[in-house]
Amino acid sequence: MPPEVRDLGPADIPRILQLEEDLFGPEAWTAGMYREELASPYRAYRGIDDSGVLVAYGGILLAGEAQVLTVGVARTHQRRGLGGVLLRDLLAIAAGGAREVFLEVRASDDVARHLYERHGFTAIGLRRNYYPRLGEDALVMRADLTAPDGTG
Ligand SMILES: CC(C)(COP(=O)(O)OP(=O)(O)OC[C@H]1O[C@@H](n2cnc3c(N)ncnc32)[C@H](O)[C@@H]1OP(=O)(O)O)[C@@H](O)C(=O)NCCC(=O)NCCS
Repeated sequence: MPPEVRDLGPADIPRILQLEEDLFGPEAWTAGMYREELASPYRAYRGIDDSGVLVAYGGILLAGEAQVLTVGVARTHQRRGLGGVLLRDLLAIAAGGAREVFLEVRASDDVARHLYERHGFTAIGLRRNYYPRLGEDALVMRADLTAPDGTG
């Protein structure tokens, strides 16, 4: 059975911050940022639990255009398909209000890029020094939500 994906709320913030710190290091978002993100009517944040503990989370912006904001899977739970399940869930939400969806990913992050390519995204450009603390460029990717082969 595919894992259940649920809405995230303010009570999830402490656990999200733990995962953020471990997965994103200096680029981790803060508690204040997450409070605003989760309260925004233009964003949907979703997550997957294992035995009552949040192990995967992600968010999407839906404000005219759709943008995948973040996806993270606990190191202990990576490579089991959870990233894919979560991304498909976010894209299904996006498809309710948008025809295309964008995202930025660290140019050197081959795992994330592979995940996104498997779900219909193609690279359309580069944003230079988008992650200044990491001294890294971002790859901008786009997926067509109306394509017949779909994105999930
Ligand atoms: C990117 C991330 C969300 C993927 O989550 P995941 O649950 O491991 O992903 P999945 O199990 O669905 O795997 C997705 C694909 O990537 C591949 N993959 C996953 N981890 C990999 C690794 N360490 N090395 C090589 N390939 C890997 C899987 O084999 C799979 O490919 P396939 O569908 O062709 O078999 C997770 O690695 C993560 O949280 N990384 C840190 C945060 C991050 O970079 N987020 C993305 C940018 S916002």
